[in-house]
Amino acid sequence: MAEKRVSAEEIFKEFKEHSISEFFRKNRQMLGYAGKVRSLTTVVHEYVTNTLDACEEAGVLPEIIVKIKSTGEERYLLKVTDNGPGIPKKFVGKALANVLSGTKFQRYMQQRGQQGIGAAGCTLFSQITTGKKIHVKSGTDKEAYECDIGISIKDNKPVVENIADLEKGSFKGLIVEAEFGGVKYENSDHGVAEYLKRTALVNPHISVRLVDPEGKEMAFPRSVSEMPQRPKQIQPHPLGLESSDLLDFAHVTESTKISSFLVDSFARVTQNKITELKRLLPGIDLSKSPREMTWDDAEKLVLAFRKIKWIGPEMDSLSLIGEKQVEAAIRNILGPEFVSVVERKPKVFRGGIPFVVEIGVAYGGSAGRVTDGAVSGNILRFANKVPLLFDGGTCGISEAVKGIQWKRYNIDDFEASPISILVSVCSVYIPYSGVGKQSVAQEEEIVEEIRLAVMDGLRSLQRYLSGIKNKNTQESKYNTIMRYVSQLSADLSELTEIKSEIIEKELKSFVDKRYSALLADEKAETAQEGSAVAEALED
Ligand SMILES: Nc1ncnc2c1ncn2[C@@H]1O[C@H](COP(=O)(O)OP(=O)(O)OP(=O)(O)O)[C@@H](O)[C@H]1O
Ligand SMILES: [Mg+2]
Repeated sequence: MAEKRVSAEEIFKEFKEHSISEFFRKNRQMLGYAGKVRSLTTVVHEYVTNTLDACEEAGVLPEIIVKIKSTGEERYLLKVTDNGPGIPKKFVGKALANVLSGTKFQRYMQQRGQQGIGAAGCTLFSQITTGKKIHVKSGTDKEAYECDIGISIKDNKPVVENIADLEKGSFKGLIVEAEFGGVKYENSDHGVAEYLKRTALVNPHISVRLVDPEGKEMAFPRSVSEMPQRPKQIQPHPLGLESSDLLDFAHVTESTKISSFLVDSFARVTQNKITELKRLLPGIDLSKSPREMTWDDAEKLVLAFRKIKWIGPEMDSLSLIGEKQVEAAIRNILGPEFVSVVERKPKVFRGGIPFVVEIGVAYGGSAGRVTDGAVSGNILRFANKVPLLFDGGTCGISEAVKGIQWKRYNIDDFEASPISILVSVCSVYIPYSGVGKQSVAQEEEIVEEIRLAVMDGLRSLQRYLSGIKNKNTQESKYNTIMRYVSQLSADLSELTEIKSEIIEKELKSFVDKRYSALLADEKAETAQEGSAVAEALED
């Protein structure tokens, strides 16, 4: 039987527009809301990254309290309190309930948040799993108030209700209370406590307290009372631009000419470079308004940028964890028998976006992951000082580490070794592979930097492991010789008529002395290598 044909007109009767909130309501897994444990950790992650960004921007040492209370079967009330700058009343709806809005999106600087999605995503997730609005209390320098906030999903607009003014100065910071359904609190590698612990370890200036659903309190106190140096906001470098970026910037600038727009908006563009651009692009009038820039102009400009020799971007835009802290974090989490830390020099990816890689290698102790009694190598990933607990399989960090030829470093099988590799990437823009921000895209330059850093760290581990192997060989030789000393002394006594005990004492003392001297030599060699590595790191 012939299929009934349907006309385009009929099909298109169904044609509708959707809002971005509607899209995420249907595709909440893209925001990280898949899996019960993961979903709860994700909301904590979104709120905590926001509190840290806000406190650091306001110049306040962060004090954060995370309280989780069970309110029913797989249902929890989460309360996150910070001592940051708060949110002015007129922005609170948009900040916390309008997907794709915030203060960080257009900035070119190292921050934890960069998309303007996280907080609104939490409001949406609360609403679609419990039907409730979130409750917010905010205190800024000028006002204090509380209110309920939800999202009108069909048009991605905030709904702010029950606004009540509080006495000015009665509270400073932000408290968000939100209830979530279909989620689970669990003490595991992917749970909230582990997330907060890892956050605290690479951010020693923060103080975090967790009250779990059983009322148990866990404190991660501040260990450094100075704020880390605030990363500088920089201008985008011409080599990091694509045609669409350039066009977007051109259409909102207040500059009146393309030439002044380029000088004002991007790093390293001087009048000399404009002269060079004019020479390379005689067909484009650089004195016309940037608003008249066409796609064709933008494409030609981007190609011309690549033909010019530029000074690299400013690197003081990055704020690292730091070698000392990477080592302290590793020792604290894993108590390993061996640690080596490597901090690479800043580099750029996509031609002009600065980033830097720091790594730590830990061996022995609690390094590696133990599952059903079997140990395997594992990777602790961080991006802009935020722990990444999910989507490791698709992450550029894992890709780089897994591609290492382990046998070259005396490790037969990474998957069966007590080894942990901590990798941290800091950048003015982290190229996440999804809006859930749990895995870093496999950008060639980033993957290569991680590989080089890990290989460097593994060279020190290799020296350490071959030291152990040598020691074991010497030790077993020593034990074997000592086992035969008594018999040998008795035989020699018969031949020489010297008392067996005297020969045995002499022989033992001779072997002991030689063995101690051998160990001392090896120790001195290792120390020398250690200081050579330290010197190389300082260089
Ligand atoms: N605790 C807070 N204190 C002050 N301002 C906040 C706080 N939490 C959120 N904000 C404001 O709300 C905005 C939106 O937050 P949201 O998490 O949605 O986006 P983001 O942090 O900018 O980017 P991302 O989606 O990558 O997290 C932030 O840009 C910030 O201006
Ligand atoms: Mg955020």
